Amino acid sequence: MAEIAAATALVEFYREVGVDIALGEAPVDRFEESRLELEARQSRAAAAAPAGAPRPAASVRLPAERARPEAQSQPQARVAPGAAVPSGDEVAAAREAAASAASLDDLRDILARFNGCNLKQTAKTLVFADGNPAARVMLVGEAPGRDEDEAGLPFVGRSGQLLDRMLAAIGLDRTAVYIANVVPWRPPGNRTPTPQETEICKPFIVRQIALADPDVLVFLGGASAAALAGTKDGILKLRGRWLDYDTGSRRIKALATLHPAYLLRQPIQKRLAWRDFLSLKRHLDEKSGE
Ligand code: URA
Repeated sequence: MAEIAAATALVEFYREVGVDIALGEAPVDRFEESRLELEARQSRAAAAAPAGAPRPAASVRLPAERARPEAQSQPQARVAPGAAVPSGDEVAAAREAAASAASLDDLRDILARFNGCNLKQTAKTLVFADGNPAARVMLVGEAPGRDEDEAGLPFVGRSGQLLDRMLAAIGLDRTAVYIANVVPWRPPGNRTPTPQETEICKPFIVRQIALADPDVLVFLGGASAAALAGTKDGILKLRGRWLDYDTGSRRIKALATLHPAYLLRQPIQKRLAWRDFLSLKRHLDEKSGE
């Protein structure tokens, strides 16, 4: 009886702190994995290079794809021995892979095959986008949560429902906006993505914005604004300010606002988000009148 009570208490504790998937029975030392991977890579490079030759540039193929071709097939493995650990090489591979996408469909396929981000190993699905890719407005959140991971679509959980109501309040819905996240895989237990995970995923969202080519970007929350606007200002300082964003082919307007999940926790702040959404509506109305 005492064992059952202890096990129940442990499961309850896990649930409260947000643990909702079991990855394996033994702990994995990712730092040690990373060190060994780096050493192996360095010795391979040293063995392949003629004496005195410069270090070869990263190949177009993705590092983890080379190492684990079986990982390309869906569904994704839940437990990943030898999962890719973020490194400078993965960031370089992500840049090359993202730059090679000629369309949004292409980008989705490339992301589905990309194994350079460890979050892919624990996520159930790739959460690429929802809404209308031809819309004038593109909204970018931080990373999917559990509901999004289940559905394979961004902002479908409670914060997504609030977002839908906020959009409806200014006469928009998902046919009039395109929605994505900086990080397209759910971090385990809904933890915040690490700076390295964000860095690896960033080239893909930057390319996604360039390919969707919206007139207006909305950063949903400080993480999205920090990753894409490159500002260190906190979201409460940044929100409501119109910024310039360079898509690579043109300069568009970007507005940072409060994340719907934050608004669920701090409903009093909805008045600030409401101001931002009114500002967005005014901007869209003015531009359609031009
Ligand atoms: N929060 C996000 O930032 N993105 C989602 O898709 C869901 C919740």
